[in-house]
Amino acid sequence: MRVILFTGKGGVGKTTTAAATAVSAARAGVRTLVMSTDAAHSLGDALAVRLGGAAAGTPVEVADHLCALQVTSPQRLGESWRVVQDYLLAALGTLGIDTVVAEELTRLPGAEEIAALLELSTQVESERWDLVVVDCAPTAETLRLLALPEALAWHLERLLPAQRGLLKTLRPAAAAASGMPLPDAAVIEAVTGWQRRLRDVHRLLTGEQTSVRLVLTPERVVIAESRRTWTSLSLYGFVVDAVVVNRVFPDAAAHAVAGAAPDTWRSAWNTAQQTGLAEVRESFAGLPVVVTPYLASEPIGLTALAELAAAQDGAMPADHDVLAPVTHRGMTVERTDAGFRLTLPLPLAHASDLGLQRRDDELLVAVGEHRRVLTLPAALQRCVVEGASVRDGLLRVRFVPDEEVWPRG
Ligand SMILES: Nc1ncnc2c1ncn2[C@@H]1O[C@H](COP(=O)(O)OP(=O)(O)O)[C@@H](O)[C@H]1O
Ligand SMILES: [Mg+2]
Repeated sequence: MRVILFTGKGGVGKTTTAAATAVSAARAGVRTLVMSTDAAHSLGDALAVRLGGAAAGTPVEVADHLCALQVTSPQRLGESWRVVQDYLLAALGTLGIDTVVAEELTRLPGAEEIAALLELSTQVESERWDLVVVDCAPTAETLRLLALPEALAWHLERLLPAQRGLLKTLRPAAAAASGMPLPDAAVIEAVTGWQRRLRDVHRLLTGEQTSVRLVLTPERVVIAESRRTWTSLSLYGFVVDAVVVNRVFPDAAAHAVAGAAPDTWRSAWNTAQQTGLAEVRESFAGLPVVVTPYLASEPIGLTALAELAAAQDGAMPADHDVLAPVTHRGMTVERTDAGFRLTLPLPLAHASDLGLQRRDDELLVAVGEHRRVLTLPAALQRCVVEGASVRDGLLRVRFVPDEEVWPRG
């Protein structure tokens, strides 16, 4: 079982690449689902099938071994969210907050993302597929989506345990004293349910069956954004296993007609693209780079998508076996002479963009505007941070035993 997510800047060809990958896998006999989590419903357009309307929300068979699914509004969440929302509305009501404002305040943040993630895990658990290809929304949304399970679980954990114990004994008394209703069993059950499922999704996304492929075009602005995306994805623990450069013009030199007037517009673009390609190879050194030609027309429909996949130059990491597991390089902790060293892959990060902060048993790592809270392994919780460095795409944090809690023996 494999999950491959495609992301990148808007319009670079994520949907087309995801669909082409799915079509060629299905033609090789792999039971494949291609699903889109992007609110812009273009997966159906690329495949030339109808995924909206009555079909929305369920996998539609589009070819042998191939189904496609457009994730829709968060219906699945509706029921359990309603329980929580009713509670919040009642609680806000006691504070004298206007109902219209309260409705607005209690709209579930990230509901679309949660629905998409739960749908992904449902499909993976169904065991109907050998390969699930995910056509993601543009980068920023995708990062939010992928960081959500961990972030939300973190918040929920802090919200719940204290309450769960307290509620049993204190509910009636506390409610009477504050005038504020306390969440009942149904509310807590709903929240714990999401918590459990989100933790499963996170395990799925950071496990060895999942990888992310970055789609980009050979333009400087796009390459720059993709570099930042690679760093951010790594920060959250996701593995990028390939870069797909899309819309690469056929080389002008190869197509120049003898005696024809040189086309300066075209040769300028070719030069720029060659420079861009070189920059991609340099930036993403170590990752397979696949080049997709800019076709003369939009690749729409199964035949055109299969042709596009066949025209790609360079091998995807698992072309010989699309289902081969991903070799993950996650966070590792090693013993050193002085204590411990925590290592986290952070390709392309610079020490100047990096923020590190220790908070009790957690390490807060910030790269630009992205931050992740790492819960430290037990051994490191009794240590203090001695220093950190970023080199060769790795963040290394040195820990030494805290004399106060761990006296030298
Ligand atoms: N290699 C290509 N050659 C020609 N047209 C392409 C190619 N890749 C994508 N397109 C076209 O470009 C447009 C945007 O592609 P799409 O896959 O929808 O991008 P995204 O999902 O990143 O927004 C679509 O009309 C698509 O058919
Ligand atoms: Mg798209």
